[in-house]
Amino acid sequence: MSNIKVLQLRSAGVSLVLDCSGPGLPSVLHWGADLGELGDAALVDLRRGAGAVQVGNGLDENQPVAIIPEYSSGWFGLPGLNGHRDGQDFSASFQLSEVARTGNTVQVTASDPQAGLGLALVIELTDSGLVRTKAELTNTGDSPYTVDGLVLALPVPTEATELLDLTGRHIGERHPQRSAFTQGLHVRDNRRGRTGADATLLLYAGTPGFDFGTGEIWGVHTAWSGNHRSYAERGMSGFAVIGGGELLLPGEGRLESGGSYATPWIYGSYGVGLDQVSTRFHEYLRARPTHPSTERPVVLNTWEAVYFDLDLDKLKSLADAGAEVGAERFVLDDGWFRGRRDDHAGLGDWYVDEGIWPKGLHPLVDHVTGLGLQFGLWVEPEMVNPNSDLAREHPEWILATGHRMPPTARHQQGLNLGIQGAYDYLLERLDSLLTEYDISYLKWDHNRDFVDGGNQLTGTAGIHEQTLAVYRLLDELKRRHPGLEIESCSSGGARVDLAILERTDRVWGSDSNDALERQKIQRYTQLLLPPELIGCHVGPPKAHTTGRTQSLAFRATTALFGHFGIEWDISSASPEERAELAGWVALHKELRPLLHTGRVVRADRGSDDFLLHGVVAQDGSRAVYSAVQLAQSITSEVGRVRLPGLTKDRVYRVKKLATPGAEPRNSAPWWTDGVELNGAALAAAGVQVPAQWPESAVLLEVLAID
Ligand code: DGJ
Repeated sequence: MSNIKVLQLRSAGVSLVLDCSGPGLPSVLHWGADLGELGDAALVDLRRGAGAVQVGNGLDENQPVAIIPEYSSGWFGLPGLNGHRDGQDFSASFQLSEVARTGNTVQVTASDPQAGLGLALVIELTDSGLVRTKAELTNTGDSPYTVDGLVLALPVPTEATELLDLTGRHIGERHPQRSAFTQGLHVRDNRRGRTGADATLLLYAGTPGFDFGTGEIWGVHTAWSGNHRSYAERGMSGFAVIGGGELLLPGEGRLESGGSYATPWIYGSYGVGLDQVSTRFHEYLRARPTHPSTERPVVLNTWEAVYFDLDLDKLKSLADAGAEVGAERFVLDDGWFRGRRDDHAGLGDWYVDEGIWPKGLHPLVDHVTGLGLQFGLWVEPEMVNPNSDLAREHPEWILATGHRMPPTARHQQGLNLGIQGAYDYLLERLDSLLTEYDISYLKWDHNRDFVDGGNQLTGTAGIHEQTLAVYRLLDELKRRHPGLEIESCSSGGARVDLAILERTDRVWGSDSNDALERQKIQRYTQLLLPPELIGCHVGPPKAHTTGRTQSLAFRATTALFGHFGIEWDISSASPEERAELAGWVALHKELRPLLHTGRVVRADRGSDDFLLHGVVAQDGSRAVYSAVQLAQSITSEVGRVRLPGLTKDRVYRVKKLATPGAEPRNSAPWWTDGVELNGAALAAAGVQVPAQWPESAVLLEVLAID
């Protein structure tokens, strides 16, 4: 009895109960709804009550599944640690040495002296109720040990019988997919060398039919920007886990004697309804000291306005038009550096092109900052075109096996930042650009998957090192240039994860500025990130990525709910269009204190053709909702819309939020004068919104009047 050590961590309606009694690694006795404060005796009984029973011809004594599940304990599923010492020490059995608790952080050390391994494990419950855990493995033996994989797993109860994860592609990121959580392994591996457009942002297990507002849900996120795995596994014993870790390429986990390997953070979020599961992430991110603290400046980005056609006068007039409509940050995208006339050449040569810019970027930077806008610059540091001075000078810096060149993608290769010379070169180039010019923002792109991502000099795999090196480079630039903001862009939204967000300030949601596609991409990117961290731009009337033509009102209402921007040649837009756009920018500025601090809520009306989403102030005093008609439907234009997330017993006035765009197709009876209803009625009965044309949206303003 005296050896029993059960710890209860509580926060924001979540209890995490850890069995740290040893002799093996800690296991999770409960992760889910808060259990109230359990006393010592109750914690011991929770443990006794959870004891596994012997079934069939199983092991004589069943052991609980540890956070790092062990083969040695009789776990026949995916082992937490997969590794060996030249074929030996193939199965570790860690024994607890120390458990230290500080607040809601538990630090555990353990070792397996026979296998020559030491382990440090951290398990935390954050203030917003997120569980996060990571491990560091040390080779204490005197010969090399190779880690082939190290994943961490969190248990989910038997009732979680449905899985939801995400997939996607360039210009179509983050599509949800559902499946039954049956026995076996559901694995989402990513070997692209970047987080990936098809990566599952989160992987959820939940009770049947869970949605944004209902069902118990357990979600996991693997915070890593290189190769990684997220998975769910239901074992034959009925025990189920969700977890994740880095995917190491062969040999990347080789540890010399004394060497160590640290996993990424694995985040777990429990909640009732996906909105609550997301809110825990949003609150966690917003509480970081590094979370952007200034109002998110409205961006004017040059990419879809001019592409590679860079001309100083044209760019100045674009900046003028941007200032006229209320933009606050001007971002010069691809094409400004040596030899870059299209996407075939130049990457790697990070010098301002003397042909286009005889006086450097100064005339443009001065013009932009003179208008009162911040200046931002696009870079893609981890890449090199074979047609560049850098590749000609240092072909050995290209990520490759050493025997052959990988196939090109967008005519480019990866630059191996694991080679000190390459890292130093980039640091010097970026640092000197940031020093010479008044650049407050870098749009940091990464436009290809890595194939054969290796170090030519050693012939070994190099993605693990590459990922760590880019983190170091970002951290160092931020250290040298306080206040610098960086956007994580990767062919649109292919690098969205919480590790890159530790050193960047927003993500580019997608290369698709088509509002129809964006509605869905943003909805699901917000599963992890709050609106202020997701770049959302108003593109040209005819979307460059789909050919669809959409009204300015639909494009702007869609961009409104993120970090708002413009990516359209507004210097050639009509005065009417510019005036309407200025109205939308003004509306965004008016709403952004709410949009960028409030709680995100979403609802479905059982139809893919219609979406409802909104943001509710933290104190419940106001909200703004958007009712979005994606396509024509036989059902979705009729029937009331429920407004989730308001305070049940407060009375609200709900009315149309006046926008610069056209009125909807058929107004609703209450639309102009509004209705007064309490939060309970709005959540359970709702209101009929106006009938809308396909690809349009209306905004509802909700204000507490008590
Ligand atoms: C891909 C990005 O996602 C785009 O926004 C743009 O910056 C291009 N790269 C530039 O090459």
